[in-house]
Amino acid sequence: MRLAGRDGRFDEKASKKFFFEKKNQKTFITLRGGAGTGKGMNYRHAFHAGNFADCVKHALLVEILLAMLRKDKPFLVLDTHAGIGRYDLQTIEAEKTGEWREGILRVLAARPAALKTYCGLVERLGLYPGSPAIAAAMLRETDRLVACELHPEDARTLKAAFAGVKNVAVHERDGFAAPKAFLPPVEKRAVVLIDPPYEREDEFEVLVKTLAGAWDRFRQGVYVAWYPVKHRAPVRAFFAALKLSGMRDVVAAEFWRRPPENPKTMNGCGLVVVNPPYGFEARALEILQALTAVLGEAGAGCAVERLADE
Ligand SMILES: C[S@@+](CC[C@H](N)C(=O)[O-])C[C@H]1O[C@@H](n2cnc3c(N)ncnc32)[C@H](O)[C@@H]1O
Repeated sequence: MRLAGRDGRFDEKASKKFFFEKKNQKTFITLRGGAGTGKGMNYRHAFHAGNFADCVKHALLVEILLAMLRKDKPFLVLDTHAGIGRYDLQTIEAEKTGEWREGILRVLAARPAALKTYCGLVERLGLYPGSPAIAAAMLRETDRLVACELHPEDARTLKAAFAGVKNVAVHERDGFAAPKAFLPPVEKRAVVLIDPPYEREDEFEVLVKTLAGAWDRFRQGVYVAWYPVKHRAPVRAFFAALKLSGMRDVVAAEFWRRPPENPKTMNGCGLVVVNPPYGFEARALEILQALTAVLGEAGAGCAVERLADE
């Protein structure tokens, strides 16, 4: 049994109370655990599926995969933080936050032309598709998806979802260590999606190290990393670290639904893309502008910024 706060994260105060009330039923769970072990993982994507951040991430991911599919040569998708794949938006978790109503519900109602493929996929796949479901639906038989998920229950759900699918492999393991295990790929082409929950204070730091390490192992890969925008200072530091990392050909595509001024709320999000496909920057801007029109509040906006040249 898990209890979540308003933002879907574990609510320690509420949980302690729950523990005292239900002490004899032994329903309390461990509060803390080591990073990379799967213990003490509080974030569950089921609370957030289909929210504005998913729309941004998935609409841009679809664009990147479409570009990869333009060449006949097979490729690997490595999804390092995969979640459970498909999300029923009528569950208690999804309804508790209702975030999807300000995300995919609005997008599907408006169906902007720039988001045609993404909207079509969401409708075709039924339950809201997470990144591994989107990738699996778009890949050809010759392409491969490797999905990593550290939460034991979510990893089980994901394994069950892809049981018997030949070109999909699910691993219950630390996604930050996955590039070392799976790169370089035999296909010599890859999209690597890194989408951590930002539960750890050092998540930006770990992300830059993981990206730079992966790029060092396989420089031709297309690396895609999601990041939250609460206020500007952490994002500025993240960009500065990316610039210092030595990686080439790096862009950031970002959307803020309101001015990023309150550090306590997620006001926007973005994707850093290393080795973006040809034409990505222009297409990303079209997609983000369409999302801004549909999802933005007063002061909303978007930008595509080049952080490092080729
Ligand atoms: C933001 S969600 C992923 C959503 C998914 N990429 C999508 O777009 O549908 C982050 C996921 O990472 C998992 N996770 C957290 N730490 C992890 C780690 N070190 N390695 C792999 N998965 C992790 C969480 O359990 C959660 O399911």
